[in-house]
Amino acid sequence: MSGEQPSEEVAPGSATTGSGRAAGRIVVVTGGARGIGRAIVDRFAAEGATVVIGDLTDPGPVGAGLDVAGHREWVPLDVTDEISVLEFAQSVAAGHGGVDVLVNNAGIMDTRSIADETVADWDLTMAVNLRGPFLMAKHLVPLMDGRDDPAIVNIGSIEGLGANTLHSSYAASKAGVHGLTRALAVELGPAGIRCNAVAPGWIDTELNRGYVDKHPNREQAVADLAALHPVGRIGDAADVAATVLWLADPDAGFVTGQVVTVDGGRMSRLSIPASLSDD
Ligand SMILES: NC(=O)c1ccc[n+]([C@@H]2O[C@H](COP(=O)([O-])OP(=O)(O)OC[C@H]3O[C@@H](n4cnc5c(N)ncnc54)[C@H](O)[C@@H]3O)[C@@H](O)[C@H]2O)c1
Repeated sequence: MSGEQPSEEVAPGSATTGSGRAAGRIVVVTGGARGIGRAIVDRFAAEGATVVIGDLTDPGPVGAGLDVAGHREWVPLDVTDEISVLEFAQSVAAGHGGVDVLVNNAGIMDTRSIADETVADWDLTMAVNLRGPFLMAKHLVPLMDGRDDPAIVNIGSIEGLGANTLHSSYAASKAGVHGLTRALAVELGPAGIRCNAVAPGWIDTELNRGYVDKHPNREQAVADLAALHPVGRIGDAADVAATVLWLADPDAGFVTGQVVTVDGGRMSRLSIPASLSDD
């Protein structure tokens, strides 16, 4: 890591109130600077948690007008780098004394044919998407010792269940995240730690907004995408955050080793040629 210094509170003036579903919980969210991770951060903070954002990049200030009764801070983190993960864990231990919830969300997506994909491309995707959650679990699980109802939630993908073309490393890494989730649930269950994954479908974030933006008829592309989903819309980062919150909650105390798909029903719909469709 560079010599970047951790920020003070990301949300100046906000303070933990002690109310809300996650009141008093210490929550770590990797990749929490933007997108799905940021929505997870904001939801936990709104529910009274103290949230530590582990991200390569500074999340910047929280938007004005957010009614967030929580406390967020950024600690620089590269999930691929064991030294960085160890320093992050030390910082969280020193600042908060432990961790109740770890959300492994940081991820990247490589779009290349296997002919074009280099070993370096493949290794980078695997390092962020799969080595990252492994290293975070390895070094943050000790901080869950003695906590009430500790939980890990990994962000997988529907591409761990099916695959889009040119996504060999991404799909393989996300299937790996789902496998790691089950393995951690089995290994850590006796220590009282649950581990589940969320497999989001198409969520409106920077990660995939580029696909839509490059389309000559953006409106049509958005409508076509919505029509793929039985619920008639693509997902919002808040949809994922709500599921993560539930999986981390003691209400889900008998749920572990699961991959919960949050995709508006897209994976449930069997494809049919347009010529035979009644839609
Ligand atoms: N957006 C979708 O439709 C979608 C669908 C399924 C799964 N996902 C998964 O959800 C997660 C978040 O996706 P998103 O759309 O919000 O992505 P995003 O690109 O908007 O945000 C990813 C965040 O991860 C951080 N990050 C990247 N590499 C890192 C590293 N080495 N160490 C620490 N932080 C790092 C980035 O700085 C960024 O803040 C990813 O795991 C992604 O694979 C997204």
